[in-house]
Amino acid sequence: SILSKLPDPLIRWFRGHKRDLPWRNEPSAYHVWVSEIMLQQTRVEAVKPFYARFLEAFPTIRDLAEAQEEKLLKLWEGLGYYNRVRNMQKAARQIMEMYGGEIPADYEKIISLTGIGSYTAGAISSFAFGIPKPAVDGNVLRVLSRILADDADIAKASVKKRAEEWIEAVIPEGEANDFNQGLIELGAIVCVPNGEPKCSECPARDFCLAHQHGMEMSLPVKKKA
Ligand code: ADE
Repeated sequence: SILSKLPDPLIRWFRGHKRDLPWRNEPSAYHVWVSEIMLQQTRVEAVKPFYARFLEAFPTIRDLAEAQEEKLLKLWEGLGYYNRVRNMQKAARQIMEMYGGEIPADYEKIISLTGIGSYTAGAISSFAFGIPKPAVDGNVLRVLSRILADDADIAKASVKKRAEEWIEAVIPEGEANDFNQGLIELGAIVCVPNGEPKCSECPARDFCLAHQHGMEMSLPVKKKA
């Protein structure tokens, strides 16, 4: 299948082109979690200062579990979507009670925590622990829809579910981290959502069906909710 051609060139490309981002320096499960929650509705450059201030105030999961709500919300001011941080504190308390303050290296346990869905659970599992689970966000759905020239509506849960199954099937042994981060990075800096994607720089250009058919600008299809 076409997707089986992706891992080798993608991983090689990622190792040569990845951005130096704060959450890539010490990718503990806690650091990955904080960064991925912040990145859900906020762009990378805007997240950086919030990420640094948050970890300075709450260096450990215990600190987050024990934080005063007022201080927590203050540190989130400007990011919006405050339920994200309220849920993080709930999950931090669950991690204290159930796992002694350490996020377990277990996808099913991670996805059972408050506020953590399949994307965030896959990101924590693969970036921090190398567990071969997919981390499919909007970046990855866009990349896949183009490589496969697939006009399915990426706003549908069933389409995301299907993408997760396809990705899980091609994660190379021992390389879940660079493969998943490579997909996200490709969507963020090459296979971009606005304007022309930079197909001449893309490690998938030789087999990308959207590129072959000149339809990269009309994918993905995303219907309004
Ligand atoms: N967008 C979502 N997650 C990201 C990550 N880990 N690095 C860069 N951009 C992202």
